[in-house]
Amino acid sequence: MSEQRVKWVVGNWKMHGRLAENAALLQAVADGAGALVDVIRIGVCVPTPYLAQVQALLADRPVAWGVQDVSTYTHGAYTGEVAAGMAAEFGATLALVGHSERRAYHAESSDLVAAKARRALESGLTPVVCIGETLAEREAGTTEAVVGAQLDAVLSLLSVEEAARIVIAYEPVWAIGTGRSATVEQAQEVHAFLRARLVQKEASLARVALLYGGSVKPENAQALFGQADIDGGLIGGASLKSQDFLAICAAAKAASLAR
Ligand code: PGA
Repeated sequence: MSEQRVKWVVGNWKMHGRLAENAALLQAVADGAGALVDVIRIGVCVPTPYLAQVQALLADRPVAWGVQDVSTYTHGAYTGEVAAGMAAEFGATLALVGHSERRAYHAESSDLVAAKARRALESGLTPVVCIGETLAEREAGTTEAVVGAQLDAVLSLLSVEEAARIVIAYEPVWAIGTGRSATVEQAQEVHAFLRARLVQKEASLARVALLYGGSVKPENAQALFGQADIDGGLIGGASLKSQDFLAICAAAKAASLAR
């Protein structure tokens, strides 16, 4: 039997949080995570101004942390940008790249996202590369073409060794923040397609973690995470409530143990 892939649950706070509420949320998540990280990995991606706070509160706790974007540059005259190396100095180990909100509102192309993934890797961060189709693209029957091209852009820039260190989050744009998750069948179908695409590049890439994101809640998490090719979740709204986030983490643990 091949070794089972570890499941991940990563929170994406987006532009939410203030010092006082972050402290309460992080304490509760770290306290609850202790009983779960024997089986799964847990992380939170926070707004960059809070990195020092998160580092102080999560150091020596069982929760990883990271940022929601990184620059394609290491340093220089790029006002407002944050380099992966800066996040790494605050103990970050994760970096979302290519979230659909960045692609849509900041016109990020798949090539730019690939460059960001490589910068993250260079600084020792694990890039969580987000990909996903819009509703119009799904309805036009182009889901596989769209997510395949988004994945290919990253795979073509990275070596096999680098690609083995990334995490991919499949997030259908129409399911993000809408309360309307993909069905388990829809999600599994795309995940299986993505895994086959990874294997096409190199057999060892079958082990890359493929997370699902888009309206994951305590109620649907275990069914999603129980699918053969779904290795956990990227959680937006529900990551802001410790009870919900921990329930989703518990679902990931339960799905792992049920295998
Ligand atoms: P959601 O967001 O869980 O609120 O749908 C997911 C994401 O955007 O990463």
